[in-house]
Amino acid sequence: MSKVAIKEDIFWVGVKDPDRAVFDGLLPLPQGTTYNAYLVVGSEKTALFDTCEPEFLDELLANLEGVDKIDYIVSHHAEQDHSGSIPHLLEKYPEATLLCLKQNKAMLQSLMTIPEDRIQVVDDEGEVSLGNKTIRFMFCPWVHWPETAVTYIPEDKILFPCDFLGSHYSWDHIFAGDEPIVYKGAKEYYVQIMMLYSKMTAKHLDRIRKLDIEYICPSHGAVYDKPQIILDLYEKWMRGEPENMALIGYVSAHGSTKIMAEYLKEGLEKRGVNVELHDLVTVPLNELAGLLTDAATIVLGSSVIMAALHPVAVNTAFLLDRLKPKTKFAAVIGSYGWSPGPLKKAAELFPSWKVEVVGAVIAKGHPGAETLAELDALADTIAAKHREAGLLE
Ligand code: FEO
Repeated sequence: MSKVAIKEDIFWVGVKDPDRAVFDGLLPLPQGTTYNAYLVVGSEKTALFDTCEPEFLDELLANLEGVDKIDYIVSHHAEQDHSGSIPHLLEKYPEATLLCLKQNKAMLQSLMTIPEDRIQVVDDEGEVSLGNKTIRFMFCPWVHWPETAVTYIPEDKILFPCDFLGSHYSWDHIFAGDEPIVYKGAKEYYVQIMMLYSKMTAKHLDRIRKLDIEYICPSHGAVYDKPQIILDLYEKWMRGEPENMALIGYVSAHGSTKIMAEYLKEGLEKRGVNVELHDLVTVPLNELAGLLTDAATIVLGSSVIMAALHPVAVNTAFLLDRLKPKTKFAAVIGSYGWSPGPLKKAAELFPSWKVEVVGAVIAKGHPGAETLAELDALADTIAAKHREAGLLE
């Protein structure tokens, strides 16, 4: 795809990767992704904002065809999907100087070879003039690496937030509008790489919201031409209360844990709690991720196999403990043949996630009347907790 105009003298020149199936070897990408680069042509100087994965270099160069001189290459973030092609671009454009924060310079130089005399460090709130356009740098660490910069062009009211606010969505139309699929991709992306740091990084959102913004040009996905939508969603995801919803994710070797999960779902719904029930073996991880900002309760269901929790449940517990959703309550349910120990250690599944574990229901084999009564009691507890938290009337 060739370059696309966003505003006068500001162009998307990035690369679409609609076939990329997974990000970080973890998150499925049903809509693919993009590596966005932008060309900003000022009255005196021209700047390229970010590059792309080196394997797509030829596509980026094709989008820059006819651009004879680039004065600046802006690096927001050292990760290779944005900075991996910088050495090639510096070679192709010998007059170009790399602009970056000092924190990013150190990271870039640990990942690739860039001659010292080709780098110009810019401070937080530092500005570089292109003539009739100004690039203002803002140091915004932990969205999602410690060195990340966000830039802003005040004359055009355009924000370049790098990974922050981005989405995994390989678009047909460059602008996001209010297309739900863009914001679905943005939510899953937020959960995977931003949510863990949200307490530290919500202040960056505040800083951005003070700017006059017409367009947000992230490093992945569509350009936001209605910036308020994604800014309000981030506010909700970062600071909003979870919803009156329980997410039950289970893995069941022979069906007993599944029966327990379905029974609990019914019980919770009878008590007014909305439920998302998913088999962890088959649910795509991105679909699960999209629920983590919303669920006030997460119930993990597992069979016991190999005298341990099922590996799929262990993997889910690990991800919950690392991602740290703002879920308030957690519970464990499951069935065992002869070894209840792994299920009894429910609270130990989440050593660093600050969540209140409100119960565990453990059945030997097929769940009988006693187990079903315990599940009713667990449903009572969860509904009461939601009520106390003001989520349920
Ligand atoms: Fe899209 Fe952190 O790189």
